[in-house]
Amino acid sequence: MSKKISLTRYLVEQQRMDGHIPAQLRLLLEVVARACKRISLTVNKGALGGGLGSAETENIQGEMQKKLDIIANEVLIEANEWGGHLAAMASEEMDGIYIVPNRYPQGEYLLLFDPLDGSSNIDVNVSIGMIFSVLIKPEGPGVSAQDFLQPGNQQVAAGYCVFGPQTTLVLTVGDGVAMFTLDREQGSFILTAENMHVPDDTQEFAINMSNMRHWDAPVKRYIDECLQGKDGPRGKDFNMRWVGSMVADVHRILTRGGVFLYPWDKREPDKPGKLRLMYEANPMGWLIEQAGGAASNGKQRILEVQPGKLHERVSVFLGSKNEVQRIARYYSEA
Ligand code: AHG
Ligand code: MN
Ligand code: MN
Repeated sequence: MSKKISLTRYLVEQQRMDGHIPAQLRLLLEVVARACKRISLTVNKGALGGGLGSAETENIQGEMQKKLDIIANEVLIEANEWGGHLAAMASEEMDGIYIVPNRYPQGEYLLLFDPLDGSSNIDVNVSIGMIFSVLIKPEGPGVSAQDFLQPGNQQVAAGYCVFGPQTTLVLTVGDGVAMFTLDREQGSFILTAENMHVPDDTQEFAINMSNMRHWDAPVKRYIDECLQGKDGPRGKDFNMRWVGSMVADVHRILTRGGVFLYPWDKREPDKPGKLRLMYEANPMGWLIEQAGGAASNGKQRILEVQPGKLHERVSVFLGSKNEVQRIARYYSEA
């Protein structure tokens, strides 16, 4: 008999043993995983599946949408709208919330997602992914965008899927971080790592260096000290990696440590950063914390930031604890 543990079995056992996954949340996670398999198939087909290229439309953030941004968004909505586990969804690619249509039963959960993360990497065959976050709808009639505006510490599940050389699903329900690898022959996600841990220290950082001239003083100081290597105040050499897909960069950090920075910068001073709080920073921040790392906006734990709007942006520093704490200290000293 195979000792392989499928995602389905893992979730059933979590529900049975620990009781912290209610049946509706288990269904939700299974449905999200199924949607990931569908997206993964389209990603793998590349030019043969009609998923490459621009859709020639703009989203609410003023970014040009790729065909795959829209396809992945539709796959996630279609998969999730009829199961009875959700009240509404919100996505990077939709201006407002998507309320589950009246013809389907409404559940108590709210699902947020970045349907396709790393859009600039789609056409060049580099790892991309999807990110999701689950909240509980506050009590009361109906559902509104206001119901989504909860800080990240209210999440009940979060995860991402990387579409890379392997398709891997990584998730937390607040009891550590588990990783599942898609077995294409079986068509199921198989548990391949449990209790993932981000080392407290690292010698690897991830930042888009081309923005250096726009950074503020604490970020300049931190990176400058890393670049001085053995001869500088850190007394050790650092390596740099930047995939340009947050999922891939965070996946590397969850696997072997590191620190990821996407700070506020002077290019668009009225925006608090590039990345979005509710469906990028919050789920990734919670996963990293669950793996023993830290996630901060420089001044505050990301999970404590009170969102003011659905598509709110935030500065992101996450990964190995001692590096994130150091960056936060540089902010407090500035
Ligand atoms: P998205 O494709 O969902 O818009 O997200 C892209 C994000 C994130 O994945 C990545 O870390 C960052 O943008 C890359 O930004 P640069 O283009 O500045 O490298
Ligand atoms: Mn993204
Ligand atoms: Mn996206």
